[in-house]
Amino acid sequence: MQRTLVLLKPDCVQRRLMGEVISRFEAKGLHVVGMKMLRVTPELSRQHYAEHVEKPFYSGLEEFITAAPVVALAIDGLDVIQVVRDMLGATNGLKAAAGTIRGDFSSSRQMNLVHASDSEESAQRELKLYFRDEELCDYESVMTAFMR
Ligand code: TYD
Ligand code: MG
Repeated sequence: MQRTLVLLKPDCVQRRLMGEVISRFEAKGLHVVGMKMLRVTPELSRQHYAEHVEKPFYSGLEEFITAAPVVALAIDGLDVIQVVRDMLGATNGLKAAAGTIRGDFSSSRQMNLVHASDSEESAQRELKLYFRDEELCDYESVMTAFMR
């Protein structure tokens, strides 16, 4: 099992696509074990996008990601990091394949609706930026206990 960090970006929240996106993850059989709405601050943006801070597109990216609330999700599943990246599709919504979240709902390189960790190392780092350990809830074992 792996755990990944997903962010429903400001465009996803403003376009009322949160349920649509979360439904896709649930339909796939992945486990949402953490979820919160928050406003990304410029400081959190610089930490989250540390690898991009020096790039020319960073200032626009920070302006966008801090402009409205986001929803952070911690999601568990088998090979979930790659599975979720595949479900998102290519970074640029215009180029993302039909059937992917970005391919179906985005036509923009910047406003591409959803972020997901790209490796185990990023997942570990990013999960800590958004969730304390006690905010992550592994309810699957609780339900199994009741079903016995
Ligand atoms: P990146 O990590 O390359 O993409 P991904 O989100 O697929 O991991 O880039 C981070 C975000 O930065 C990306 O989701 C959208 C934005 N971005 C731009 O605005 N312009 C660009 O040229 C690139 C490469 C990314
Ligand atoms: Mg990335």
